[in-house]
Amino acid sequence: RAMAILKEFEEKCGTPIGKLRQVADAMNVEMHAGLASEGGSKLNMLISFVDNLPTGDEEGLYYALDLGGTNFRVLRVHLGGKDKGVIGQEFAEVSIPPHLMTGSSEALFDFIASALAKFVASEPEGFHPPHGRQRELGFTFSFPVGADVVGELTKSMEKIGLDMRVAALVNDTIGTLAGGRFYNQDVIAAVILGTGTNAAYVERAHAIPKWHGLIPKSGDMVINMEWGNFRSSHLSLTEYDLALDAESLNPGEQAFEKLISGMYLGEILRRVLLKMAKEADFFGDTVPPKLKVPFILRTPDMSAMHHDTTPDLKVVGNKLKDILEISNTSLKMRKIVVELCDNIATRGARLAAAGILGILKKLGRDTAKVGEKQKSVIALDGGLFEHYTKFRECLESTLKELLGEEAAETIVIEHANDGSGIGAALLAASHSQYLGVEE
Ligand code: BG6
Repeated sequence: RAMAILKEFEEKCGTPIGKLRQVADAMNVEMHAGLASEGGSKLNMLISFVDNLPTGDEEGLYYALDLGGTNFRVLRVHLGGKDKGVIGQEFAEVSIPPHLMTGSSEALFDFIASALAKFVASEPEGFHPPHGRQRELGFTFSFPVGADVVGELTKSMEKIGLDMRVAALVNDTIGTLAGGRFYNQDVIAAVILGTGTNAAYVERAHAIPKWHGLIPKSGDMVINMEWGNFRSSHLSLTEYDLALDAESLNPGEQAFEKLISGMYLGEILRRVLLKMAKEADFFGDTVPPKLKVPFILRTPDMSAMHHDTTPDLKVVGNKLKDILEISNTSLKMRKIVVELCDNIATRGARLAAAGILGILKKLGRDTAKVGEKQKSVIALDGGLFEHYTKFRECLESTLKELLGEEAAETIVIEHANDGSGIGAALLAASHSQYLGVEE
């Protein structure tokens, strides 16, 4: 019976190459629709106002503020221009007192501004901005609020006499794109695969019908796709995915993210195991109570089980015991668990690869053109990509499979680190008000 459940799951979540191509085509179609009009697609395709990515030649001292969870970071990078790149970087991490998280935004921004002022005061001797110039800051803000966060932060900074300009407001995906581009001018898109998932890429401004502003000098505009909300009838949804969505905090939303990202992979595994326990007495005649607890199986635990190389799958046994309080599992049972991990991670990684192919298609970069050496680099980051080796390897091999040998030679995936920190500081540099102004 458990085998039957496994087999059925395997079938339903299969991602044959034909299906992946349909997903990529659907992504391309939705990208067009989202760029055409506001609300034209499940893909928001947000115009980021970032129209200038770092060239690698930036110089000077730039700050970043990374506000994401219960901690925030302040960073400073010292850029040495062409050849020298990043000369130095420092950061400080500050935890936000709980009462400020629920209080007024003014109190929160006052707190952040004063922490920033303290960090600025520790600027090393001789590393100050040239006389009369403002310090500049890239601000990564990862909460969906309507408030004018730049205005609020600026007001709080003014109150304490901190003269600093917010040169760019971004999210971690755009920061990753910027960080990738700083080191490699062939970077055209960035994808975050972590707790959540998202993608951003460089679009030609004239290819954005819903953009009625001036065409920027660069001709480019970075688009924040919010691709986690992508949906298509070609995604291989199972009964477990439907139930997970229905019981989630945001039913009907973030369909792609719920198949791919670190927040959910372990939870899908738990749901399949729970069904096996209930309907096939997989863990004996009672259902282990812990298995009923939503999100108790985290993706890092799933990854540890998936990568278990011990002959008797000791890691799997220990995880089941420590997390789910299920002891005395047989090798056969453990093997089934590993197979489930494989199905879930493989589907997620292959769908992510299909999403990337969709972006390449939109840009007309998915095929090898005769004699063309132009590289296309996708910058990737996030805990899932960094730490879940089998997921990453599957993503990479699937992309190669989709592209074919020839195109795969010019299309590369690269790890870009710390987009929300360094990436944001680099964007402050490329959006500096002093660009092209001699010292
Ligand atoms: C990190 C990046 O590696 O991944 C951050 O440096 C990004 O910029 C983060 O926000 C997202 O991944 P996770 O796994 O922390 O959700």
